[in-house]
Amino acid sequence: MTAATARAHPNIALVKYWGKRDRALNLPAVPSLSLTLDRFRTRTTVVWGVEADSVELDGALAPAPAAARVLAFLELVDPRRPPCRVISESNFPVAAGLASSSSAFAALALAASAAAGHDTEPTALSLLARRGSGSACRSLWGGFVEWPLGERSDGADCHARPLAPPDHWDVAMVVAIASGAPKPVGSRDAMEHARRTSPYYATWVQTAADDFAGARAAVLARDLQHLGEVMEASTHKMHATLHTARPPVLYQVPATIACLHEVRALRQRGTGAWATMDAGPNVKVLCHRSDAAEVAAGLSPHVAHIEVLRPGGDPALEPR
Ligand code: PMV
Repeated sequence: MTAATARAHPNIALVKYWGKRDRALNLPAVPSLSLTLDRFRTRTTVVWGVEADSVELDGALAPAPAAARVLAFLELVDPRRPPCRVISESNFPVAAGLASSSSAFAALALAASAAAGHDTEPTALSLLARRGSGSACRSLWGGFVEWPLGERSDGADCHARPLAPPDHWDVAMVVAIASGAPKPVGSRDAMEHARRTSPYYATWVQTAADDFAGARAAVLARDLQHLGEVMEASTHKMHATLHTARPPVLYQVPATIACLHEVRALRQRGTGAWATMDAGPNVKVLCHRSDAAEVAAGLSPHVAHIEVLRPGGDPALEPR
């Protein structure tokens, strides 16, 4: 029996991953770019070689579908694996569009690979984590991370890579939690539904490479206005594929819309703030760190809870 415990931070996509060119391998239809956050984290222990498989999430036995997904992932680490025990806990609301699957599968990839005695080099882990959840391949590094498309049909070159470290730029992500309730449709099903039924999906795919290139250049140049504009375009285009799907998928609640208007009002008052949303109702606002308190104060009348986060670091194994 061997065991390892890993911690990983979630990342928020500034340019979204949305849609797959290969569902079995989790190969994206579009390139994406993200920021890894500090403070929020998933901590996962894998015990390799026990009597029987078990999966515990946030202090309780995992529901059957979640347990099956975790155990199927362990098969990717080693198809001849022994029974394993997995214990995972996140310090933020899961399944609410806060990218919990990104930190979950990054931490699981690192803990399981270490427990199995395999390679824990980040690119190998990024390839592995991608199979659990696409966005997880970007949580293998801190700071700004890019996930280019890759070219190979087997996905062997489809991994993320670091673009700029956490201290590259003094920005903050102000997260306005409009609702902590589990989302009605998960991102995996929603992106496939949009691909199959939205007439806007093709345009989403066609315009994604320009957004990626623009955001990449803006991160390297530390140009917040340009990055913010591209980021907002990416999130609204992604949600447009959902609003035009049949039946439509609407993640926004009234507080979401109030936050989007507030971000616009902050800009009109001269504060550089731009919003992004994932597969959930929460709004994440990118700004300079020096403006974060003002942004949080503007958003706070609209939501019950606000978190101010900064660029976070790499995942890590806990010393034994
Ligand atoms: O990693 P998944 O399959 O949960 O998909 C994530 C999709 C978004 O969070 C909406 C966008 C992204 O790039 O993280």
